[in-house]
Amino acid sequence: MNRTFSIIKPDAVKRNLIGHINQIIENSGLKIVSSKKMYLTKKQAEIFYSVHKERPFFNSLVEYMTSGPVQVQVLEGNKAVSTYRKIMGSTNPADADEGTIRKLYAESIEANSVHGSDSDENAKIEIEFFFSGSELV
Ligand code: CMP
Repeated sequence: MNRTFSIIKPDAVKRNLIGHINQIIENSGLKIVSSKKMYLTKKQAEIFYSVHKERPFFNSLVEYMTSGPVQVQVLEGNKAVSTYRKIMGSTNPADADEGTIRKLYAESIEANSVHGSDSDENAKIEIEFFFSGSELV
């Protein structure tokens, strides 16, 4: 059993897809340990995506991620990081497998509906960035 971090991004929250996406998450066997809706501040988005700060899409990504509320979540289950990445699908929805969240719902490579940690190490960092211990039940 381990954990991963998920964001349901502004494009999906705006289109009322939180429940649809969480249904896919729960159908995969992952459990939603904690979940909250929030607005990311510019500062939070810049820090969260700082690994991409030299990329040409960085400013646009920060603007998009702060354009509306997001749902941040902690997921738990067997091989949580890889299980969640599998059901999310590829970053670019054009490359995503049928039935994945991004194939079903993403609008573009930027507005791609969901984020998921890429390693156990980053999952821990990302979870601690958004959640305190007492929020994880
Ligand atoms: P995510 O998995 O959250 O990690 C980085 C994000 O940057 C990614 O999802 C997309 O939202 C965005 N992204 C990645 N590549 C591109 C790109 N080529 N153009 C615009 N946005 C991108």
